Amino acid sequence: MKTEVLVLGYESSCDETGVALVRSCGDGLPQLLAHALHSQIEMHQAYGGVVPELASRDHIRRVLPLTKQVLAQSGRELTEVDVVAFTRGPGLAGALLVGAGVACALGAALARPVLGVHHLEGHLLSPFLSADPPDFPFVALLVSGGHTQLMRVDGVGLYRVLGETIDDAAGEAFDKSAKLLGLGYPGGPALARLAERGNPGAFNLPRPLLKSGDLDFSFAGLKTAVMVQARKLALGANCAVESLPGEVLADLAASTQAAIVEVLVKKSLAALEETGMHRLVVAGGVGANQCLRQHLNAACATLRARVHYPELSLCTDNGAMIAMAAAMRLQAGQQRASADYAFDVRPRWALGAT
Ligand code: KG4
Ligand code: ZN
Repeated sequence: MKTEVLVLGYESSCDETGVALVRSCGDGLPQLLAHALHSQIEMHQAYGGVVPELASRDHIRRVLPLTKQVLAQSGRELTEVDVVAFTRGPGLAGALLVGAGVACALGAALARPVLGVHHLEGHLLSPFLSADPPDFPFVALLVSGGHTQLMRVDGVGLYRVLGETIDDAAGEAFDKSAKLLGLGYPGGPALARLAERGNPGAFNLPRPLLKSGDLDFSFAGLKTAVMVQARKLALGANCAVESLPGEVLADLAASTQAAIVEVLVKKSLAALEETGMHRLVVAGGVGANQCLRQHLNAACATLRARVHYPELSLCTDNGAMIAMAAAMRLQAGQQRASADYAFDVRPRWALGAT
């Protein structure tokens, strides 16, 4: 009797095509056998952001070569795959359709069941792929390009939102501020790099909702404050914002990052205190930010709380987290893979909603 379950996973919700093979066996944590990723960043850079139609077309081009790469790397055959998983949402409709279409076509051709996964659940469970996986329950800080949420996680599929952004996400605050400073796309990593040489106390930017008494976030005002500050400086220097001296731009970047990080850290601590938990899991692209990691580690140490992160390479979108989330759902009996290959995608989809 076959005891292992091989899950092939596809991620195509935005500008990364990710494919991965995960093996689960008995009750142990599923293991990643191989994953491959193609980032479209270079292609979208010329446009200053993701162009949905170009994204979909590029996913089509990449998805099968990446599948072959993953199978070759893992030394497994396509026919050994037991379940095919894909990101069902949220994300760009056309981009999601590529992963869903390929996964369901493969499922039908191999006569294997398929399973649609929530993209944020993938991020949420991605720290289980790290060398230091957490135990349940924990508080999760989900910080991606489109979402900022604090969640109480009691097990696979047992998620409760404690607080979330009422407007822009943390990643959006990084991206939009970076764009204002002329740093291009994607802005988060570029702003973080520039911030390394700047003074985080140079400009007093707002910390939105810091004292709101709840666990919600708001970052839209911060971006406006960055814009006002940058334009004032540019007016004084009689130049465009992008032409301000490098030190000034670095100070602006560092001050922006400090404001975002302070709010994320304080609210995460408040969530730990409110729930009485001592474990924090950070997931999503902004979780790669080193300044956030340093401040979270220091702050959590004062509460004797542990922080778990995904591997740096698995913070941003990837197929491994989708295959892993599917494998963990199946293992937990939360969901059965389906042999109905008539698929749909859910571009807008709240985690926890059915
Ligand atoms: O999770 P993700 O790959 O995609 C979504 O699901 O949205 O997150 C992408 C976001 C972008 O906003 C990007 O600028 C941000 O994560 N990001 C960072 C860093 N790396 C990625 N933000 C700050 N510092 C970083 N090092
Ligand atoms: Zn993501």
